[in-house]
Amino acid sequence: MKNSVLLILALILIVAGFSGLILTNFSSLSFISPISKAQFKSEGERIFFTGSSSKRVIPFEGGPMWLRRMGGGCVSCHGEDGRGGIPVMMSNIVAPDITYDELRKEGMATDDIKKAIREGINEENETLSWIMPRWEMTDEELDAVIDFLKELSK
Ligand code: HEC
Repeated sequence: MKNSVLLILALILIVAGFSGLILTNFSSLSFISPISKAQFKSEGERIFFTGSSSKRVIPFEGGPMWLRRMGGGCVSCHGEDGRGGIPVMMSNIVAPDITYDELRKEGMATDDIKKAIREGINEENETLSWIMPRWEMTDEELDAVIDFLKELSK
């Protein structure tokens, strides 16, 4: 007798728990989502820091295994200020400064920067190290990131 009361209580709790999740649109599980709920001032800033837009995780080719496992954005290698100078984790390559003004000074036009991000090819048609991921960004995502690299130049 006592057991069936406990069973019913347990069932009530489970149903209540699930309806709670449904009512909150599963947002209480959002800590599991790779898309960050953190607030960013712009889409470009979000991509730079998380490797995700507000809509999706941006796919990429290449890059180190840890990036694939743990996720991350440009910040993971080029640093918070985009000025690089730090060795990429588990490699012996130092990530370069990717602030917009600096890239322009090196002779990269905006289209060259986009090509480097998407295809890993620089303005001299050299193939970049495979440590630098090839980001499969849409034009909008790419423009947003470039805008943020301009922000970082300030
Ligand atoms: C896992 C580390 C890593 C991540 C993450 C990463 N990069 Fe890089 N990136 C590099 C390395 C290393 C190079 C230098 C490659 C070389 O010189 O062969 C580089 C080069 C570049 C260059 C070319 C710079 C130049 O002077 O030729 C650009 C532009 C760039 N990254 C932009 C980005 C952007 C934008 C993101 C985020 C969307 C990003 N990178 C994420 C490691 C990374």
